[in-house]
Amino acid sequence: MADFYITTAIDYVNGSPHIGHAYEKVLTDVIARFHRLSGDQVYFLTGTDEHGQKVQQTAKQQGVAPQAFADQVSAEFQAMLPALLVSNDAFIRTTDERHKRVVRQLLQQLYDQGDIYLGEYRGFYSTRQEQFLQEKDRQPDGTWPEIYGEVTEIVEPNYFFKLRRHQPWLREFLAAHEDFVFPRFRQKQVVEFLKEDLNDLCISRPRERLEWGIPLPFDPGYVTYVWFDALVNYYSAVADQPGRWPAAWHVIGKDILVPPHAVYWPIMLHAAGLPIPKGLLVHGWWLTRGAKMSKSAGNAFNPLDLVAEFGPDALRHFLLREMNVGQDGDFSRELFLARYNSDLVNDLGNLVNRVLNLNNRFASGIIPAAGPDQAAEAEMKEHWAKVAPEYVALFEAFQFHTALERLFGFIRSINAYLERRAPWKLAKSADPQDQALVRLSLATISEALRLASAALRPVMPGATAKIDQVLGCAPAGTWRDELVWGQRLSGSAVATALILFPRPAPAPAAKAP
Ligand code: MSP
Repeated sequence: MADFYITTAIDYVNGSPHIGHAYEKVLTDVIARFHRLSGDQVYFLTGTDEHGQKVQQTAKQQGVAPQAFADQVSAEFQAMLPALLVSNDAFIRTTDERHKRVVRQLLQQLYDQGDIYLGEYRGFYSTRQEQFLQEKDRQPDGTWPEIYGEVTEIVEPNYFFKLRRHQPWLREFLAAHEDFVFPRFRQKQVVEFLKEDLNDLCISRPRERLEWGIPLPFDPGYVTYVWFDALVNYYSAVADQPGRWPAAWHVIGKDILVPPHAVYWPIMLHAAGLPIPKGLLVHGWWLTRGAKMSKSAGNAFNPLDLVAEFGPDALRHFLLREMNVGQDGDFSRELFLARYNSDLVNDLGNLVNRVLNLNNRFASGIIPAAGPDQAAEAEMKEHWAKVAPEYVALFEAFQFHTALERLFGFIRSINAYLERRAPWKLAKSADPQDQALVRLSLATISEALRLASAALRPVMPGATAKIDQVLGCAPAGTWRDELVWGQRLSGSAVATALILFPRPAPAPAAKAP
């Protein structure tokens, strides 16, 4: 049993969660569930990033204290998790005492060992991104790209972390760990970034400009730069759990890879003498009409609206099936509905209905035992024998969209098999051979549905639990055992009906002007 520690980015609390945040939590949850089912000792952490100028400003605009504001928005993020069936083991807030304590200890250690010094900072600061910018971040016409929001020039004494000192180590580390960043093309971007010399990192903000942060333990006139504070959450959450730390995978979006996660974080750990995590899984963005979905762009979808309308499993399936991890993906209600109707209503939901209905009509609701296979059944089994190991291997390689494509191919093939066998026609015949074929076909579709449901468990934990229940199927043995074609359901009593994915009502016709 391996230790598997997985984290998401911790979300800023300056606005409500949208599909981009929901995606990252669901993606991480699917990986966590897959590893739990595979027998690993999983610890899944998520949380909120609560300090910094952005939160201070938004709280001020709303006329509330930063802590009260952070409490309110963090609660919204926490409430989203069970609604999306996210099975996190812990939730960290950077305002938690245990987190602040570890940040202070780390800062003091780095200061004592000479990795932090006082210098003068002059630079351009983006409040929206909570980051100092460099000349190379400007557009050719001298302006700053829209993603940075308002940019102001700042000159002030500040504390610096000796990032540059550790640059040669990081280059060597990445050369020795070619798979540190997934997908690989993202690791190449990091290596490219490191070809230029790094500047030391300004890790403080004078208190008169920013109150809302963790005071530096060696100079209370300053608070800690929000990224230096936030990154530590991955470690502070488990610092008191022996053995947990280095088995970590961080799931993050592409916008926060370079420099925070791929440069600052490994160097901070290395400087502190702590082990480096196993890897970074970097996903792309959900876009609306080609632009990054974000609160500030005003094009964000509320995931909870879709959950209320279609249920959490439908949203989870869409997010995993539609997005190739690492690439960007388009989000729209039309795309969501197309996927919902084809995969869930027509393929999976319809199959569940048919399995229940046919077993009830032709076998008194008790799944029959299968007699010897004919060609059509042998073909189904062969198909499954190919799909099952591919599916697991694709999960291991984070290729969820392809894994689901294959699995829904299998589900469609069950429906096609059923059309071909047409047990409703065979049942009209008194011929014992036809009767045997009815039983064989019911046993085959029931078993095939059981297998598909077992495979889908990490993605659709709610719907698959319902399917197992209506099939009278109790999980037994390991998950990998459950993925083997057998005769587990023969003699099992099925429920009368289950509408898993209701067909959406047609959109109201547009009114004539
Ligand atoms: N607080 C920092 C992360 C600190 S981690 C130590 C932050 N917060 S965020 O709220 O802006 O973003 C949180 C995560 O959501 C990031 O990984 C980000 O990439 C992801 N997403 C935000 N918008 C997104 C999309 N439109 N699509 C997919 N994910 C995106 O950055």
